[in-house]
Amino acid sequence: MKEIIMIVKPEKLETIKSILDKLNCGGMTISTVMGCGTQKGVVGETGVNQIRGYNTTINLLPKVQISIVVKDNKVEDIISEVRENVATDKVGDGKIFIRNMEDAVRIRTGERGDKAL
Ligand SMILES: Nc1ncnc2c1ncn2[C@@H]1O[C@H](COP(=O)(O)OP(=O)(O)O)[C@@H](O)[C@H]1O
Ligand SMILES: [Mg+2]
Repeated sequence: MKEIIMIVKPEKLETIKSILDKLNCGGMTISTVMGCGTQKGVVGETGVNQIRGYNTTINLLPKVQISIVVKDNKVEDIISEVRENVATDKVGDGKIFIRNMEDAVRIRTGERGDKAL
């Protein structure tokens, strides 16, 4: 099993939910977060970040974080569907992190691993 963590613009959440529904992913956990990537949250063209008039080195932008735990064989399909539907030619499309998930337990039944997803 793998955990896929996607951090994207809030307006992309519906697109990602549709993809996960289409690919029959078992469940998802969504959080609203603040973040920045390589551009340090710069939105204007001046390269100077301002928050309410103050200069700041790093500007955090609102993002949604979607965490899903899936069977290993679903990972590449999810990544390509997300890239196909979310990627633009602009910075800030977001990022996907993938890590191993050791085990899972469905509390109601005691099922473990893949069967608990
Ligand atoms: N190295 C990182 N570590 C943790 N979170 C990150 C990292 N890079 C990006 N993120 C998260 O992903 C969001 C989208 O990143 P994005 O700006 O698209 O990446 P980049 O500018 O590096 O291509 C960021 O707002 C932040 O929440
Ligand atoms: Mg960026």
